[in-house]
Amino acid sequence: MSLLSCQDWTPQQIQHLFLTADNIHQQSHTHIRDKILINVFFEPSTRTSLSFECAMKRLGGQVITFQKDSSSLKKGESLEDTIRTLSQYGDLMVLRHPQLEQVSLVSSLIDIPIINGGNGHGEHPTQALLDLYTMYKHFGTNFQTKTILFIGDLKHSRTIHSLMLLIHKYPKMNIYLLAYPGLEADEQTLQRISSIHSQSKNSITIQFNNINYKLFDVIYITRLQKERLDKEQQTYCNFMMTNQIANKMKEDAIIMHPLPRNEEIAPDVDKNHRCHYFKQVKYGILIRMALISNIFK
Ligand code: CP
Repeated sequence: MSLLSCQDWTPQQIQHLFLTADNIHQQSHTHIRDKILINVFFEPSTRTSLSFECAMKRLGGQVITFQKDSSSLKKGESLEDTIRTLSQYGDLMVLRHPQLEQVSLVSSLIDIPIINGGNGHGEHPTQALLDLYTMYKHFGTNFQTKTILFIGDLKHSRTIHSLMLLIHKYPKMNIYLLAYPGLEADEQTLQRISSIHSQSKNSITIQFNNINYKLFDVIYITRLQKERLDKEQQTYCNFMMTNQIANKMKEDAIIMHPLPRNEEIAPDVDKNHRCHYFKQVKYGILIRMALISNIFK
């Protein structure tokens, strides 16, 4: 069972994954002991690569890591031949690639399950699952009625794209958007939010100079995706979450970020009780353990 997109998940499957994650340390994983996970990253990563490694090792499995810069790609080997070769060495592949189509294309070449660790500006499904799990851990099953504000590079943020697909499974949730200049969500996204969540299309986009912070249960911030911008594209990050702003939010509201962060969240927010971005990192291990465990069932 590969995981390429959040599109096909049902609320029942999500609930099952969350319950598996809740109880992951109480379960036996002896069947994973002889399994090997292959980490294949063509873009930098700290959390996704290492948390998959951590999750697999905590389940008793093994991990090998492909090093693109010292591989035979340097001798002109194709990506296809490389992936086919790697698939002979393990039982599960985690792949991150800067090009939108590559993860899906190579998944058709191999016989082992593949997990999308991020495909360009497309999706990052395991991040979205751990993000939603973070909301579930904080709000319980009431997360299904909460209101979220996404702030950032709405055009290129794959974590936002995937999380939005999951949130669309819960029509009672509301979504609001605040984009960095020139990086707004497209018309189709606004249309989808409006029809699924019964929100007036004109109200979805929030203006920087007119933010009512009390409206939101979750503020989810992402960095400017500099690596995806054209050289001539002039834009900048025009929002910074500070402790002063955080304290204008509801008492039980939370601030989330997939990390890495740049300047969009000031370090003084880290001590605010609403800061949940390091909890996301912790929950990422549980969710990835649960995913691996379900794949090898
Ligand atoms: N959140 C996330 O994908 O982080 P990395 O790029 O460090 O894996």
